[in-house]
Amino acid sequence: MAVEQTLSIIKPNAVAKNAIGAILSRFEAAGLRIIAARMLHLSKEQASAFYAIHQGKPFFDELVDFMTSGPVMVQVLEGQDAIAKNRDIMGATNPAQAAPGTIRADFADSFTENAAHGSDSPETAATEIAFFFPEGVCVRTR
Ligand code: PPS
Repeated sequence: MAVEQTLSIIKPNAVAKNAIGAILSRFEAAGLRIIAARMLHLSKEQASAFYAIHQGKPFFDELVDFMTSGPVMVQVLEGQDAIAKNRDIMGATNPAQAAPGTIRADFADSFTENAAHGSDSPETAATEIAFFFPEGVCVRTR
């Protein structure tokens, strides 16, 4: 297991449910450290660029509309095996298949409004972290 960094987004429906603290607590309880964080309301251009890999897919427009419907909380999580650990904590992308006790089981409303995003590989994590934190992240303290 390696110490990794991963990009996490608390999506607009979870922010609207006032669940930021509840979700961040789950990351911390699992041993992940929050080493950068910002809250922002994405523009259509930002959301389209972030999800550019999905351009042309049937759900793309709905995804961009949703991700720009309200503020999001974006953070970098760091820890042992952070990418897989974050995805375990989130649960399956389709909340209908998310295991009980996962973020998506507890806070998702639909496949699109699925409460959270997490990077799926080290390469994606590096790209996604640079997208939201071009200035870099906090230096690791321990
Ligand atoms: S796929 O199907 O392999 O391209 O899907 P995936 O890489 O898991 O990520 C898809 C992201 O788009 C969001 N989304 C949907 N996916 C599939 N079907 C529907 N209808 C849909 N609506 C939205 C999904 O939540 C993934 O978002 P992120 O933020 O990456 O988790």
